[in-house]
Amino acid sequence: MHLFTPFECRDVTARNRVMVSPMCQYSCEDEDGLATDWHLVHLGSRATGGAGIVMTEATAVEPRGRISPQDLGIWSDEHAEALRPITEYIESQGATSAIQLAHAGRKASAFRPSDGGGPVHGDSGWTPVGPTDEPWPYDEPLETEGLDAEGIEDIEQNFVDAAIRAVDVGFDIIELHAAHGYLLHEFLSPVTNTREDEYGGSFENRTRLVKEIVADVRDVIPEGMPLFVRVSATDWFPDRESWTVEDSTELAGELQSLGVDLVDVSAGAIHPDQQVPSTGPHYQVPYAEQVAESGIPVGTVGAITTPEGADEIIRNGRADLAILGREHLRDPYFAVHAAQELGRDGPVPRQYHRAF
Ligand SMILES: Cc1cc2nc3c(=O)[nH]c(=O)nc-3n(C[C@H](O)[C@H](O)[C@H](O)COP(=O)(O)O)c2cc1C
Repeated sequence: MHLFTPFECRDVTARNRVMVSPMCQYSCEDEDGLATDWHLVHLGSRATGGAGIVMTEATAVEPRGRISPQDLGIWSDEHAEALRPITEYIESQGATSAIQLAHAGRKASAFRPSDGGGPVHGDSGWTPVGPTDEPWPYDEPLETEGLDAEGIEDIEQNFVDAAIRAVDVGFDIIELHAAHGYLLHEFLSPVTNTREDEYGGSFENRTRLVKEIVADVRDVIPEGMPLFVRVSATDWFPDRESWTVEDSTELAGELQSLGVDLVDVSAGAIHPDQQVPSTGPHYQVPYAEQVAESGIPVGTVGAITTPEGADEIIRNGRADLAILGREHLRDPYFAVHAAQELGRDGPVPRQYHRAF
């Protein structure tokens, strides 16, 4: 087993174990959530660049679920159709397409980083929703709406509808975003979830929303289609009641019995006061190893930047997928370069053979 061993999951075979991590591009031109040429060229070039799995950025299941006004969405058929050329192009390059379905929860309505970040107040912003009306703690917080039972049901339906559309336009894999302090993570974590109904309190109750969405999505997507879930393995809040790696491991086992195929193991971002440990090379791999103890395949992400490093993770069975974010921004051809460096047959596009 090595980085270029195909990854088989249900009816899908990815040509290697390099995955492009979901990364917001803040590039929808009219704040309408529609994919643009940027998304096609950005994701397409990582497919041409040899990655096994190319995943979209967090793609909002409803307009309030965008982080910034410029984020991608899939809340209508028009949105889905705008993504179809991307899945077709990724497939034409021999790569596997994946979409991250997301809801930003109380972290929604934020300026994109290049506009300075922070909350968008006023007309171009909107009212974020969360497990409670406690807002993300900006200096000038946005008024936030705690979801009632009907609101929760609507959001579950949004995820289901989004999944059906994603299947329709040709995505091979669906990932549900339950990490980084966005809505599903906000329900998981006792830092943000202080509800007193069946969606808050005990582990069982806090994990209910994620498990309901997983079960509902699994029901409507083809049997042969892989379903991934991204979690923050830990809240990085050692001194207070928070979501822990042990919680993630327990949840992972439950998700597997509901039909999830892989847990994409990230960490943090539930609250600005988190205590982030070292972020050196491969700093999140130990979390993935721990979550894998539940028996589910895992992907690991975080400061993986070299072919040797990514290969070591796979060869030693520390994770099933090596997921690279920023390195793919620096080098769209990471996988082609990695194959060369590691002496493996790599996915060099035929048009470029004379250069390799
Ligand atoms: C520009 C940018 C946008 C990101 N957007 C997302 C996102 O949409 N969904 C997500 O789960 N993580 C997102 N992340 C986190 C990455 O997927 C990844 O987990 C993180 O960057 C750590 O991996 P790396 O060290 O390989 O970059 C983003 C990161 C960056 C740099």
